[in-house]
Amino acid sequence: MKLNRGGGVDLVQEQLEATQAQLEWERRGTDLNGELLRSAADSSEEDTVYDLILRLALSELPWEVGHVLKVADGERPALCPTSAWGATSAAGFQAFHEETIRGTFAPGQDLPGRALATGKVEWSTDLATVSGSQRGDSLKMIPPLSAIAIPIAVEGKVVAVLEFCSRALLGATGDLNRVFEVVALQASMLVSSKRACLREEQHRGILASAARLVTIGEITAGVGHEIKNPLSSIALTTEVLKRMVQGGVRDTGTLLEQIERLESSIARANRIVTDLQSISRDASNDPFAPEKVSDIIAETVGLCSARLRRSRIELLVPAIPSEWSTECRSSQVSQVLLNLISNSHDAIEGSQGAWIRMEVSEGEDAYEISVIDSGHGVAPEVAAKMMTGFFTTKPPGKGTGLGLSISRELMRSHGGDLRYETGARNTTFVARIPKRQGGVRSASNAAEHA
Ligand SMILES: Nc1ncnc2c1ncn2[C@@H]1O[C@H](COP(=O)(O)OP(=O)(O)OP(=O)(O)O)[C@@H](O)[C@H]1O
Ligand SMILES: [Mg+2]
Repeated sequence: MKLNRGGGVDLVQEQLEATQAQLEWERRGTDLNGELLRSAADSSEEDTVYDLILRLALSELPWEVGHVLKVADGERPALCPTSAWGATSAAGFQAFHEETIRGTFAPGQDLPGRALATGKVEWSTDLATVSGSQRGDSLKMIPPLSAIAIPIAVEGKVVAVLEFCSRALLGATGDLNRVFEVVALQASMLVSSKRACLREEQHRGILASAARLVTIGEITAGVGHEIKNPLSSIALTTEVLKRMVQGGVRDTGTLLEQIERLESSIARANRIVTDLQSISRDASNDPFAPEKVSDIIAETVGLCSARLRRSRIELLVPAIPSEWSTECRSSQVSQVLLNLISNSHDAIEGSQGAWIRMEVSEGEDAYEISVIDSGHGVAPEVAAKMMTGFFTTKPPGKGTGLGLSISRELMRSHGGDLRYETGARNTTFVARIPKRQGGVRSASNAAEHA
């Protein structure tokens, strides 16, 4: 059947074309969002989300130049241009670039400022004539620039604006507008989630430091006593030496014996202070370095033995082959062992014949360091929850419930793990630590320390 032109056919044809155009925009919008989601999932930085939108929008949509402005912190919000720029054709945009990077945009000012004020996608088919434009005069020299400004909002507040620009006359069609609204929404969600991850990381960092400080607080009480012993010995030996010299003792052997006693007391006090300094530092950014397992255990024992002695808990430590070594952040491993020993201390303190035993075994790729105490295991309902942050059975003010969860995280950051041994005769926790760290970073660390 043939219909007359100028009548229904034209109308149908027009509608068909409009529908096709709409479908095409929707396809592009979907592609853009899909790609944005896929790529952004791998990146941890908020800025990479903006870079991605720039890159994808410029490859999919008819814009020639795009850039990012971020809201600067301050009393009044204002948009500052960033160094994130993308272009399919840079020619002809010199004036736009120069004028844009020069200033900031207050709410309502120029096109980005309008998007900041309204929180909506804003358009212009001639950037030079936008009201309140600070770029207008210089842009009048070049052919009209179409532009679009897309706000990215987090928790209802605009945090950034993306501006795209083209020499083609790109009008505010509803379809293109919708594509950008969806992209803006998607980007807002991605930026929000990146910020939430960052906040969580910072939060965990603060909690980890708090837990480290608690451990340090607990051990410093013992260390004070521990340092007093060599210091009193130094005072006593110095007195003895003085009297010997005053009394005319000239026997070199006797004098040397006292001097050696002095040296050993000084060395002991020195080691305690060094160990304490090492465990008190925040090692989270330290590189992994080869350490002897025996040194890590000795450092740990040095810091907790006084406290255990005072609580009449016997500490049994095995002899460890000196060639056993692991690539690690030794103070973090010490911190884990101190947490385990501290838990054991709390569980068995005051019980008859209380003891804590450490054991170390060598596997093919890893060592297992066990902390065993004279207790008879943890009740199943406690064991099920004890590795979760903030779970504690201790009275308020005594435990935060972070020791085990942070210790497990520290071991996992080493590629190892921390587990509770169910069914063991005595309460047993096992820290597994790999001998070597995989990947490029630790390989270069290993080279540095070789
Ligand atoms: N050796 C152990 N014997 C018996 N129970 C234990 C032992 N180690 C841990 N637990 C149980 O697991 C809980 C959680 O331990 P975790 O170290 O995470 O926190 P906490 O010791 O209570 O507090 P924090 O370590 O933050 O001061 C303890 O409250 C305790 O009930
Ligand atoms: Mg604890």
